[in-house]
Amino acid sequence: MSNGPQQLPASAGPPEPHIRMVNLHKRFGSLVVLDGVSLNVAERESMVVIGPSGTGKSVLLKLIVGLLQPDSGEVYFHGQRIDHLPDRELEPVRIRFGVLFQMGALFDSMTVGENIAFPLREHTKYKPSEIRDIVAQKLRMVGLENTEQKMPAELSGGMKKRVALARAIAMDPEVVLYDEPTTGLDPIRADVINELILKLNEELHVTSIVVTHDMTSAFKVGDRLVMLSGGKVIAEGTPEQIRCCAHEEVKRFVEGKATPEELQAIRLHQVREIAGEAMFSDL
Ligand SMILES: Nc1ncnc2c1ncn2[C@@H]1O[C@H](COP(=O)(O)OP(=O)(O)OP(=O)(O)O)[C@@H](O)[C@H]1O
Ligand SMILES: [Mg+2]
Repeated sequence: MSNGPQQLPASAGPPEPHIRMVNLHKRFGSLVVLDGVSLNVAERESMVVIGPSGTGKSVLLKLIVGLLQPDSGEVYFHGQRIDHLPDRELEPVRIRFGVLFQMGALFDSMTVGENIAFPLREHTKYKPSEIRDIVAQKLRMVGLENTEQKMPAELSGGMKKRVALARAIAMDPEVVLYDEPTTGLDPIRADVINELILKLNEELHVTSIVVTHDMTSAFKVGDRLVMLSGGKVIAEGTPEQIRCCAHEEVKRFVEGKATPEELQAIRLHQVREIAGEAMFSDL
């Protein structure tokens, strides 16, 4: 008989989320970035996080993988608390996450193949021939077969993102975190990335968290959308619920509309430029 922890009966309650964030707070000096964020992500779910620039979306992803630590609050992975784990204990958890960083972050001095092989060389004992096969397989998955020898500088923005994605999935992660995967791409290349995200969800059965400003992408890849603003979750729901959300800020974000105050500020600024600062110096 096992001496391990007793299994709870199936009727004990809902299953533990794949990732659970509880009341996360994070500030940098006097700047409060996250002010009590709690979110659950179910296994194989695709959760999209939207929100204005500087609202803490990238910080949230970094808290999940331990690149930053919360000031308070907790992060659980399969029910195991993982924030504040020492590096040695975090390492085996971290390799179960694939991260597509906001800036792509390929190593410019390495070929495409070496970039994708990098995590495999660092964290596995695969033989070079096995690593070669895995690299080829991942490149096939992102539609870039036979590009192993190319240098990142030779690639377009969309191709770089796909290589970064191949590297993010090199270790067969359980969870893939995408930080602005379509930013800077034209609509067609952005859609290629969206289709890839959907394909990876389907074929690799991963759980995904996608941070994006791109509402077309958000509605296409998300099972659930969450909007962050002012350090808090201000809306959460299915794509349909978010599309029809009556919350003024959410509506403006989804429709890409500035507030009357923002428009007024721009108009004022234009007038200032035309009329000269002096006239308005006491405004
Ligand atoms: N390591 C850090 N040290 C100090 N301030 C930081 C650090 N990381 C993030 N910040 C600040 O925290 C705030 C949130 O940053 P974050 O990068 O999470 O925003 P974001 O929502 O991802 O924005 P964007 O949509 O522009 O990518 C910003 O004001 C940023 O300057
Ligand atoms: Mg960001």
